[in-house]
Amino acid sequence: MKAGVYVSETKAVMQQKAKPVIKEGEALVKVSHAGICGTDMMIYFGKHPRAQAPLIMGHEFSGVIEEIRGETEFSLGDRVAVEPTLSCRTCEACVRGQFHVCKKLRLIGIDQDGGFAQYVAVPVNRLHLLPEKLSSAHAALAEPVAVAVHTVRRSRLKVGDQAVILGAGPIGLLIGMIAKRAGAKKVMISDISSYRLTKAKELGFIPIDAMKKDVVKEVRLLTNDVGADVVFEVAGNQITAKQMVETSRIQGEIVVVSVYKKAPEVDLAAMHFKEISLTTTRCYTKEDFQTAIDLLASGEIAADSLISHKLPLEDIQAGFEFMQRPGESLKVLFVPNGEENEQ
Ligand SMILES: NC(=O)c1ccc[n+]([C@@H]2O[C@H](COP(=O)([O-])OP(=O)(O)OC[C@H]3O[C@@H](n4cnc5c(N)ncnc54)[C@H](O)[C@@H]3O)[C@@H](O)[C@H]2O)c1
Ligand SMILES: [Zn+2]
Ligand SMILES: [Zn+2]
Repeated sequence: MKAGVYVSETKAVMQQKAKPVIKEGEALVKVSHAGICGTDMMIYFGKHPRAQAPLIMGHEFSGVIEEIRGETEFSLGDRVAVEPTLSCRTCEACVRGQFHVCKKLRLIGIDQDGGFAQYVAVPVNRLHLLPEKLSSAHAALAEPVAVAVHTVRRSRLKVGDQAVILGAGPIGLLIGMIAKRAGAKKVMISDISSYRLTKAKELGFIPIDAMKKDVVKEVRLLTNDVGADVVFEVAGNQITAKQMVETSRIQGEIVVVSVYKKAPEVDLAAMHFKEISLTTTRCYTKEDFQTAIDLLASGEIAADSLISHKLPLEDIQAGFEFMQRPGESLKVLFVPNGEENEQ
């Protein structure tokens, strides 16, 4: 089969690999669509703490069940999205049923071969059946949508709240969409890329151009000098880690979604004076993932506006290059079995 393989730092190539052989309790998924995300970029740059070359990347994907082994409610030909988290089921978090924060959490596409390939072996309990009306391209977004669902659910966001999102990447934009659905009155979103800010505006958010404007002043202006009820930090750098404190209202909440490449300094004294709460968020639960699928199927997520490129696996290196130009790309999807097989 064709597979997009991370072979060494900044090198991803298409190779011929053996089709995976499934074990009891696994399904062989023929991949329809698979998205590149920031974590894949970390792997590509050799900066991911766990991923080791050679690796078939891809943890955001949809497909069709081609083979299956063991007792299951799934059937051959079922269209599915894959929840890529693998938990140990024995650690302290797993014992409490909090599988998404497993001490030894592993992901398909990071710790083992993933979706940038024609076929992937997936444990049956990681499969979610797709509703008929959900396209497989949109279903490949279930994973990032689940991140946004989990994030907003973990926040204290309430009907009528004013939210600030720092960073209009795919995750920031999806958090905006879910926050609106959860009742946010106003969603302000900053970025340094005019392309991403244009998307934000199209989606009904108030864009703040961090290249041209003082984000903190702008949020003050937009909130009658109060600040945001909830600030979502989704850009992941020192500048936004400072702004998250400064844009929060007194007794507001900061939700850290970013995975920082370098731990930022955070002004805890300022947080204390404003009695700000800090919430962090990681991945999603199975229920969040199912909610993401339901929301995508209902058409309430502007999925098409997030998909900037669809590429064959032959263009794996180009896909990673598009992702390095945030001014031109959002979600890049691979179609390992070709678009004619799109379902
Ligand atoms: N919590 C989780 O489980 C989870 C899951 C997925 C992704 N993440 C993290 O969420 C973050 C966002 O993910 P993404 O895929 O949208 O990444 P992304 O890189 O596409 O988005 C980040 C955005 O921040 C913008 N940005 C950079 N500097 C800025 C600044 N000073 N002000 C405003 N915006 C700025 C960039 O232009 C970009 O659009 C990443 O840190 C990622 O690792 C966390
Ligand atoms: Zn991801
Ligand atoms: Zn565990």
